[in-house]
Amino acid sequence: MYLRNIIASGKRYFSITLPDPCNILAIETSCDDSSVCIVSFSPNHRYNHDILYYKTIHQEDLLVKYGGVYPFKAAERHRATLPLILNSCSHIPINVIAATRGPGLSPCLAVGWNAAKSLSSWLNIPLFPINHMEGHALVARAFTKDFLLPFFALLVSGGHTMLVHVDKKNSIDNPNSLLTYNYNIIGNTLDDAIGEAFDKGARMLGLSPTGEALSKIAENGDPTMFSFSLPFKQQSKTCTNFSFSGLKTELSRHIKASTDSNSNINNIADLAASYQSALIRHVVDRVQCSIIPKYGSSIPLIVSGGVACNTSLKNALIKQFQKLVVPPKEYCVDNAFMIAWVCMEKLWNNVLNDYDHNSMLKVDIDPLWSLKLD
Ligand code: KG4
Ligand code: ZN
Repeated sequence: MYLRNIIASGKRYFSITLPDPCNILAIETSCDDSSVCIVSFSPNHRYNHDILYYKTIHQEDLLVKYGGVYPFKAAERHRATLPLILNSCSHIPINVIAATRGPGLSPCLAVGWNAAKSLSSWLNIPLFPINHMEGHALVARAFTKDFLLPFFALLVSGGHTMLVHVDKKNSIDNPNSLLTYNYNIIGNTLDDAIGEAFDKGARMLGLSPTGEALSKIAENGDPTMFSFSLPFKQQSKTCTNFSFSGLKTELSRHIKASTDSNSNINNIADLAASYQSALIRHVVDRVQCSIIPKYGSSIPLIVSGGVACNTSLKNALIKQFQKLVVPPKEYCVDNAFMIAWVCMEKLWNNVLNDYDHNSMLKVDIDPLWSLKLD
């Protein structure tokens, strides 16, 4: 069924039995990336899939202009770009739609989710609401064929810092949960997310407000030049949570002290390197204390979300965990392929048996949708 032909002919079509191969259209607009992906896969053979179309449009100009993500401007941009992206792939037939329902910024989520609902209703094809964090947690499985459950997922993005134990659902779990597996959140941030700490740190140092800018300048700095005290030192054996606001305050104190003493410009690289090193040491410390004593160092650990692109973080974790998996860079950051992947995992787990199209069309966005059982 071609989107272009259906729109032209006004025909409606619905089949609960998926063809093999089957094409998923996935849409992701939870923050400031407009991303669309079409994946062809076999509903009968796990892991068989092929990306037919993939496009992500970033909003760097808005990020720089507003010094961070400004939700209403980001949504306005999604409204302008999403129809153009969808139009450019309308020649590809689709059988299923998956879109991010949450968590994320409400005005941004609404653009992608409402587009998905309209298309699903118009084409009369199944629609799957996907949890953005579930996308980050599962996408690595697309690149590592024998990735068995259970495993840990360290989700490090602009909005989250979480350590999650992922396992099969068992009989006492909610059978109507829209999540694919059972997610046990072992650790969570008590204040800022690590991506936010990177972004705000970069802005405080006068750089473009992204973690990438900070880590780039940190390459030329000495991480031992400025000292930072890591959070939860006293409870180091028992505390599984994260906290970044204290480190941010320390950075601002160091910046003020350097400015007052007229220190030279090389301080920016040293400050960036020392701050980055503190953020990473804190995360690695918490993850190590939460996992290794109980599960050992050979349980698989997936690292995903934008901050997983950070090479120093990867290098630090690889020393501690034998089975560390980090998806390729473009699939660590927000992307629609991860949304398609969760949908495939659902279909391989036969969720279509309980699928109710009319109820699905009534589902609304959930900006705070937690990975905990719903
Ligand atoms: O997962 P993501 O693309 O979007 C959210 O769901 O938030 O993550 C974006 C975050 C931003 O805070 C960005 O600065 C950070 O990931 N990031 C990095 C790096 N690349 C992206 N942080 C540190 N080092 C990097 N190389
Ligand atoms: Zn994300």
